[in-house]
Amino acid sequence: MSNDGVRVTLTGVTKRFPTGQTPLTAVDDLSLDVSAGSVVALTGPSGSGKSTLLHLIGAIEPVDAGTVEVGGEQITRLSRRALAGYRRTVGFVFQRYHLLPALTALDNVMAPVLPYRVGFDRTARARELLDAVGLADRERALPAQLSGGQQQRVAVARALIGGPALVLADEPTGNLDSTTGTEIIDLLLRLHDERGMTVVLATHEQHVAARCDRLVRLRDGRIAEELDLTGDADDPAETLHRATQLRL
Ligand SMILES: Nc1ncnc2c1ncn2[C@@H]1O[C@H](COP(=O)(O)OP(=O)(O)OP(=O)(O)O)[C@@H](O)[C@H]1O
Ligand SMILES: [Mg+2]
Repeated sequence: MSNDGVRVTLTGVTKRFPTGQTPLTAVDDLSLDVSAGSVVALTGPSGSGKSTLLHLIGAIEPVDAGTVEVGGEQITRLSRRALAGYRRTVGFVFQRYHLLPALTALDNVMAPVLPYRVGFDRTARARELLDAVGLADRERALPAQLSGGQQQRVAVARALIGGPALVLADEPTGNLDSTTGTEIIDLLLRLHDERGMTVVLATHEQHVAARCDRLVRLRDGRIAEELDLTGDADDPAETLHRATQLRL
């Protein structure tokens, strides 16, 4: 099960929320090109628009202006029905896991594809993914019986069940201690290396952002700073040096 990543291109994207008299501009005329198969970190202070941007890319929310193109398709022009199809091709990981409490780990992983006809054996693939995230022996556990890190592993497996070409992760390590957070980011990056999907993640954590190919820092819904980290891949000291300069 491998899947090539998709390119994501945002052009002049604006998102406003109605708040009182004047609408709040959460994303402000923002343009961003994410190359296929790359791992991009969105950083920036609370309220800078990271989650909103992920929701626009995942078509969870509509844009007010501008276009979002994913894999050559302009998703901002899709019909409601086509949008539902598009969302199924995206894997989502959230800060608070959002597992269904009454379902076992295995059933949680399968949940996104249960309503649909798929061209693979759901149970077999869910088992394969639980194995890939190191939880092969916990498939019958309920979320409450798992640690936060283990629950996030289940959530990562669930995000991958449909073989997504794009994974969107909103502070995937935000609820975890730094050791467990590092394990989750290691896991995401290993799965990325194996599967090649494009990953866009929001994070407040320097050590997480420093592991990505590129860092995009937002402020007030605009891009305040960008940093290409790929050149550092073979030079951990240089990566660390840059990371310490990052203001997240
Ligand atoms: N549904 C909504 N209704 C009204 N305002 C919203 C809504 N969602 C987000 N906002 C506002 O949009 C702005 C951007 O919010 P967003 O959640 O994208 O920030 P963020 O960078 O993810 O912050 P954090 O780091 O705290 O998660 C904020 O001012 C927020 O209050
Ligand atoms: Mg957020």
